[in-house]
Amino acid sequence: MKSSILVVAISGLLTGAFPPEMMAMFSDIEARQVPSTDAAQKLSRDRTNCGPTPCSGFNAKEQLVSTSGQNAYASPKAGQIRGPCPGLNAAANHGYLSRSGVTTIPETIAGLSAAFGMSPELSAFLAAYAVIFVGNPLLGTWSIGGPPPSSILTGGLLGGAQGISYSHNVYEGDASIGRKDAYLNNGDAHSLDIKRFTEVYALGLKDDRYTLDMFAQDFLKKSQQSIATNPYYFAAPFSGTLVAPVAYNFVINLMSNHSASEPSGYLDGYNFKQFFGVSGDYPNFKWLKGQERIPENWYRRPSTNQYGIANGFLDFATNFAAYPDSLKLGGNTNGVNTYVGVNLSDLTGGAYNADDLLSLKTGKAACFYAQLAQVLVPDAALPLVGELAAILRLVNKWIKPITGSWDCPFIGQYDQTLFNQFPGYKYRPKGPATNYMKQ
Ligand code: HEM
Ligand SMILES: *[C@@H]1O[C@H](CO)[C@@H](O)[C@H](O)[C@H]1NC(C)=O
Ligand SMILES: *[C@@H]1O[C@H](CO)[C@@H](O)[C@H](O)[C@H]1NC(C)=O
Repeated sequence: MKSSILVVAISGLLTGAFPPEMMAMFSDIEARQVPSTDAAQKLSRDRTNCGPTPCSGFNAKEQLVSTSGQNAYASPKAGQIRGPCPGLNAAANHGYLSRSGVTTIPETIAGLSAAFGMSPELSAFLAAYAVIFVGNPLLGTWSIGGPPPSSILTGGLLGGAQGISYSHNVYEGDASIGRKDAYLNNGDAHSLDIKRFTEVYALGLKDDRYTLDMFAQDFLKKSQQSIATNPYYFAAPFSGTLVAPVAYNFVINLMSNHSASEPSGYLDGYNFKQFFGVSGDYPNFKWLKGQERIPENWYRRPSTNQYGIANGFLDFATNFAAYPDSLKLGGNTNGVNTYVGVNLSDLTGGAYNADDLLSLKTGKAACFYAQLAQVLVPDAALPLVGELAAILRLVNKWIKPITGSWDCPFIGQYDQTLFNQFPGYKYRPKGPATNYMKQ
């Protein structure tokens, strides 16, 4: 009942027209649209590490990311939390986010802009979603790992703040770059699996370079592996169809090093390992748990071309146009190799169909994902009365300014019963309350 009020409240915000810069990017991809997979793959390969539109200009002073003074590296101490996201872990290890691992929306916006050149609207959306679904809406905090120790919470009012480590199907999804599927690892989808890392590392060995196209192909391979090995494989609309594949693009767009000679940047093995907390030489790697770093003397993407929501959807659509089989919304139904996809039109009462996701013609994919974020509300938020008001305040403050002007089709209904056929849909591993990083 309370949850449905929230769903309505959020959907109501999604009306209007896209901002001009976003429309410009969407028409850009429309212009680039090509019928054949070969041509789409060429577009995918032609991308720089800043995306389809190269970064122009290099400003050493502006782009150098400080790793000294208050941003000096320090491994997490006992009680300081780290989780499944190397970007967030590295930011916290350098004080761009609270070193405790429990952060706020404004701190996330400032920290990720300074450390990576992520745009405020993208950080705000991701962080607000975290506070609402797996954080503490009353305090406005969220954990970048497991549940915070009670000392960090005021009075432990909300035992439900699991953090992103235990957000399977809500934030965290299967077929990740370096983390195993939760079900195949006793619910642990936050620890780096060194074998998985070594395999993806091998892709760039030849030229010591990693690209968006390489990673798009790797996501296709990982999805196929999950279908073939994980009876609980499930790509939920937000965590599986969007977050897991988008994280592949984050590595290239946000971890590449930039220079005057290569303003769009490139990612080599050294920087890839630093950001992922990996030591040793191929193939003898070791994961240094929670010790993800921003490399010394590393230059992020320029502030004139931050990575935002429109960039995110451009890369997303380019990947799926090139490798259509990697677009998954659905899961295994009865053991491994029994993948069934959900019909998007059936799920959304006819408001969307699968072509909308690939074409991006009208920005409908962005609408779809912004709206589908709500599908999980009834399962995940279970708000108390006070929390509901806090959640609505968060939506008004952080989500509405971003999505409120978008021109989205109205979704009359979400038929979530379509997910009941997937055993992985209900799988919700929870971490112990003490599951935070101890060194
Ligand atoms: C508010 C901002 C962010 C949030 C809420 C967030 C959350 C997450 C979550 C929940 C996952 C697990 C997804 C999965 O199952 O694969 C994840 C993974 C990942 N994130 Fe983030 N993230 C954020 C920012 C960033 C940034 C700034 C970067 C890069 C600089 C980044 C890079 C990655 C990568 C590479 C992975 C996949 C790790 C692996 O599979 O080994 N994220 N993030
Ligand atoms: C990044 O690129 C700059 C400029 O080419 C170079 O001096 C620096 O060593 C590189 N940093 C890393 C961490 O690779
Ligand atoms: C999805 O369902 C709609 C309406 O039920 C139908 O018209 C469409 O052909 C289906 N699409 C696929 C790919 O099966």
